[in-house]
Amino acid sequence: MIGSTSGCVSIFASSYQVTCSMASHTTARPLTALKSGPLRGRVRVPGDKSISHRALMLGALAIGETVITGLLEAEDVMNTAAAMRAFGAMVTHDGDVWRVRGLGVGGLLEPAGIVDFGNAGTGVRLTMGLAAAQPIAVTFTGDASLIKRPMGRVLEPLSEMGVEVIARSGARLPLTMRGPRLPLPITYRLPVPSAQVKSAVLLAGLGTPGITTVIEPVFTRDHTERMLKGFGADIDISDEPGGGRRIALVGRPELKPQTIDVPSDPSSAAFPIVAATLVEGSDVTVEGVLMNPARIGLIETLLEMGADIEITAERTTGGERLADLRVRHAELKGVTVPAERAPSMIDEYPILAVAAAAASGETRMLGIGEMRVKESDRLAAVAAGLRANGVICSEGPDWLSVRGGRITGGGKVVTHLDHRIAMSFLILGLVAGNPVSVDDASMIATSFPTFEALMSRLGASFEAVDEAAV
Ligand code: S3P
Repeated sequence: MIGSTSGCVSIFASSYQVTCSMASHTTARPLTALKSGPLRGRVRVPGDKSISHRALMLGALAIGETVITGLLEAEDVMNTAAAMRAFGAMVTHDGDVWRVRGLGVGGLLEPAGIVDFGNAGTGVRLTMGLAAAQPIAVTFTGDASLIKRPMGRVLEPLSEMGVEVIARSGARLPLTMRGPRLPLPITYRLPVPSAQVKSAVLLAGLGTPGITTVIEPVFTRDHTERMLKGFGADIDISDEPGGGRRIALVGRPELKPQTIDVPSDPSSAAFPIVAATLVEGSDVTVEGVLMNPARIGLIETLLEMGADIEITAERTTGGERLADLRVRHAELKGVTVPAERAPSMIDEYPILAVAAAAASGETRMLGIGEMRVKESDRLAAVAAGLRANGVICSEGPDWLSVRGGRITGGGKVVTHLDHRIAMSFLILGLVAGNPVSVDDASMIATSFPTFEALMSRLGASFEAVDEAAV
């Protein structure tokens, strides 16, 4: 067991150096959102975070040069870029054209230092899979939020494949793992609906001889499967009798470099979409949004609530559906969001809760226990933030119920190093009776560095506040 919760792993501390992490966020940056006039304009939000991580990772395993445009240049993804360099891949960029010269499946080198993923759960969990099928020792760590998050869900199947791990109690970071000389293919049924776990097992399966199979009882985002196919891997996806899908991957393929254009992130688009829906007189178009069926649960839910979202210019790029979304203000009504929908909008519940606070009637969100293990315990953070702003809500272990109506506002929201909590409550402030403050907007840079500029361009009002006042 590793004894320290802060920073270096004691057994290696003398010989290891911290490799990288984009930012340490030691200084909180409080921010206030004020009631704003109509939001208007056309915007494009940055590239999809899930696809950006995966493009860099598969690029690092392909032989030759993968070219990526539209990559999300935010801290989480930059930590993955730095990690791929630490494993020996060449990652460069000229303006917004990124190039990854990979090492081939099985060709990753042992990093010389500790690989620090900052705030990025997807980055660290998928990279554990990537490194699992090689006999190299890797030490991972992260920021104060990431070292609290459970890694056991990934380490358990990787251990079945032969990986040795020394982790902090509760399978927390920092941890050190070493892959086996001869990894074993497994058939793994996901105990939680998690694309991160599915992807980690599949990425480990890449370096494993034989067929690695993942069974997912509930459909989760499938970017890894789509991209593996694009890079030339032999992957078979079939329906599982009784529901769900079976994904079978043949190990040790030669991956061919790709040209990838990353579509806009629907999880970031969610903020201007909800803002335009709530602020009277708004008319906003968000361009080129990824419309992968496993990512559009929020759009579906908002439409059920009465939102005015026109889906236009639908097209397909690199095997993914994209569309421009024109959103005009609409009065919303509360709905019940079924548990089955949770994986397709798992990151969007905080902003949905904000929409629910402005809707008439009650919105019930069911089967959302996974929210508790995100960058923060998002269920608790959302409920606390709503209450601080006069919104009535109740929460259970895996559900949240919000009573909508007029929003008093005036609250100070604790974000717990969670970018989506910060952005969601800043949107609440645009329609609340009184300004809404968040204790730290700096984490927004992990996923959507242009959030404030983009929202301000549409007409949103934000004001920096004195830290002492929050
Ligand atoms: C992600 C999967 C989701 C999501 C995360 C990104 C991915 O996590 O919350 O932001 O890129 O695979 P889980 O797979 O743990 O649900």
